[in-house]
Amino acid sequence: MRAVVVLTAAGSGSRLGHTVPKALVPVAGTPLVVHALRGLWASGVVDDVVVSVPAEHRDAFERAVRRAVDDATAVGVRAAARCVVGGPTRQASVAAGLDALAPRGPVTGAAATGDAAAAVAGDQPAPARVIVLVHDAARALTPPEVVVRVAEAVADGADVVVPVVPVTDSVVEVHDGVRAVDRARLRAVQTPQGFELGLLRRAHAAAAHRADDEATAATDDAQLCAVLGAETTLVPGHLDAVKVTTPRDLLLAEALVAARVA
Ligand code: C5P
Repeated sequence: MRAVVVLTAAGSGSRLGHTVPKALVPVAGTPLVVHALRGLWASGVVDDVVVSVPAEHRDAFERAVRRAVDDATAVGVRAAARCVVGGPTRQASVAAGLDALAPRGPVTGAAATGDAAAAVAGDQPAPARVIVLVHDAARALTPPEVVVRVAEAVADGADVVVPVVPVTDSVVEVHDGVRAVDRARLRAVQTPQGFELGLLRRAHAAAAHRADDEATAATDDAQLCAVLGAETTLVPGHLDAVKVTTPRDLLLAEALVAARVA
């Protein structure tokens, strides 16, 4: 089982209060985007990673990504990644990453292995099912086991796979008054989300043709696929996959990394 990845890192991160883009902000001396890449590579299921980066910081990202690839390769980790310029929204940055992937991505199944038994039996090669993961560099400390779980669920036939964690706060809805929501029925959504590549491409193409307000209401790729009628499969996420958004999240990320190396 192999997967390709679009890693979104083109956000400005203004809420972090840094002058550099969020994905280049260091945690334990290493940029968030490099932590994210290491987690993906450590899963052992990832081939190509396309990183969507801000145009005005492309050179800095290219240097950080190249160095991360070299460092990982030097210690025997299979590592590949390249940068493309993202867009003004996360959705546009994912679309830019999808455009940069090979037209079909890596071929898996009998079509890839040239399955001799299938050839002898005169069987048609199984149609290639390409797994693509969309991951946020902001969730830099996502454990590799989550990456594997998501990719495996797509390999097992799910079209859309979303890692989730339970909601621990009490939650209210504030539209037209204040109304309590049963948190037992809620889950917080994380990344990486997994897809069959053709479906995700169709979902992004459809979103690009919808009215702006309608398309931008979707905050992740699973929602774009749901518009096409695709069913979502949930798998367990992980509390370490926190989305680094505020200075407080950075402190938490520093503590998590310190606990991992202790
Ligand atoms: O801004 P927010 O934290 O919601 O962004 C989630 C992810 O989407 C981050 O990894 C960020 O870098 C990415 N993003 C992007 N292009 C944008 C905006 C956000 O790649 N224009």
